[in-house]
Amino acid sequence: MTGCRLAERIAGAAKLLDDAFKNVPSTASVRVVSHYDADGIAAAGILCNALVREGRRFHCSMIKGLSPNYVKSLAGESSAIIIFADMGSSLIKEISELGVSAIILDHHRPVEDEAGDRHKDIVHVNAHICGIDGTYGACASTLAYRFAEELDKHNIRLAPLALAGAVGDRQDIGGFSGYNKEVYETALGNGFLARMKGIKLPQGELGSAVERSTDPYLVGYSGKKGSGIELLKKLGIKPGRKTAEMTAEEREKLSSFIVTELIGKGTPADWIKEVSGEMIYTDFMGCGTLCDLADTLNACGRTDRTAIALAALMGDSGAISEAFAAKEEYNAMILDAMTSLEKTDVVKMGHLQYFTAKDDSIAGVLAGLAINYLFDPALPILALSRVGDKVKVSARATKPLVSSGCDLAASLSVAAEKFGGYGGGHPIAAGATIPANDEATFLKEMENIIASQMGGKK
Ligand code: C5P
Ligand code: C5P
Repeated sequence: MTGCRLAERIAGAAKLLDDAFKNVPSTASVRVVSHYDADGIAAAGILCNALVREGRRFHCSMIKGLSPNYVKSLAGESSAIIIFADMGSSLIKEISELGVSAIILDHHRPVEDEAGDRHKDIVHVNAHICGIDGTYGACASTLAYRFAEELDKHNIRLAPLALAGAVGDRQDIGGFSGYNKEVYETALGNGFLARMKGIKLPQGELGSAVERSTDPYLVGYSGKKGSGIELLKKLGIKPGRKTAEMTAEEREKLSSFIVTELIGKGTPADWIKEVSGEMIYTDFMGCGTLCDLADTLNACGRTDRTAIALAALMGDSGAISEAFAAKEEYNAMILDAMTSLEKTDVVKMGHLQYFTAKDDSIAGVLAGLAINYLFDPALPILALSRVGDKVKVSARATKPLVSSGCDLAASLSVAAEKFGGYGGGHPIAAGATIPANDEATFLKEMENIIASQMGGKK
């Protein structure tokens, strides 16, 4: 059970929203600030749909990250209340200084389990302080969903969108758990989802789907023109067949081939299960599966089209078409970067490996795909991108590494702080920014911390 602390905090948040409009004109708006990844955009979409249903005006921004300066910049606005989603837990003090009511819906571990309860105008809904694992049990979009459901039961129609946010944050690896599982069961129970045996490949003609596939990334096939058709011939599958039209036998053949390839690459078992098991379809936005919806939102965020994504989530058909086009563009970008990465040597240290990423906006995605499909999954991976005089670090591990003690959020935050930088995230996926001049010493520091986290084990 997810515990009643979530219910209490959500009820407090709904009351704060109501109270915020007692002494201001009803035309005042609700300020929504969220993250630009799939989870953040899904959370923003849920909040804005719910606010419209409440008859509230809103002003929404989906940003790369929340800084103390960004929080300060909100002081000049005249919103009745601010809702932060997928961020805010680490800046409660700065938020309280705004003197505006605020709701924080976050799943990143708060600083020293700061509940923020002494600030009467802030309701802090963080998965961790509600006794839920914020890496797998709840994300910003499922917390936003819980809030929307509290405002109006009709908002349960947004449950598939909440789950797409969880998929975007990879919280579905190994199956939905914690509060996410409750949302999943609600969505299933209400007939919003259809579960089908399948293989995680893009929709469309199978040959091209194999070539466009990034997750799973199939070395020798993904990004290689003509390789998909060749593979289908080899497996005796009809060319021109669409992903959704495969017969059980064809699916079995393709699935066995992909699973064997991935086992050969050392892809962790839980990851293989995710790409070869059950696919979950939703009608929401007409994308296909929850993964397709998450990918579409993520693509919009990474290609500076957050406004398009939000309009699409509010039901604008023109925006939906643009969002699909963004997905194709982003997919091509990832394929291009991954095929280049295949030709690059990752640098291996004793307890970690790293590579240089040209574009910091896709570094995290590349690191996640690279550890699972390209390089050694037994070593945590760091993608380093130079931005001005700083280096941005995106780090990824695997569940087996985390079970052996690896905690990237802790190691990056300690190592970055040593050099005047900052970092955080989750044990399995974290990031940091450090001064570029300190890169080499920072890597040594990371190596030492990871070695001690894992007790010298690899
Ligand atoms: O900021 P936030 O918590 O939303 O981001 C989590 C990030 O961690 C996402 O980019 C997600 O894809 C990544 N992640 C991952 N592998 C996991 C779990 C999370 O790459 N197993
Ligand atoms: O940017 P990237 O996708 O690699 O971020 C992975 C995770 O680390 C996300 O949850 C992000 O919010 C977090 N992060 C952080 N502090 C940073 C950079 C990233 O907490 N400086």
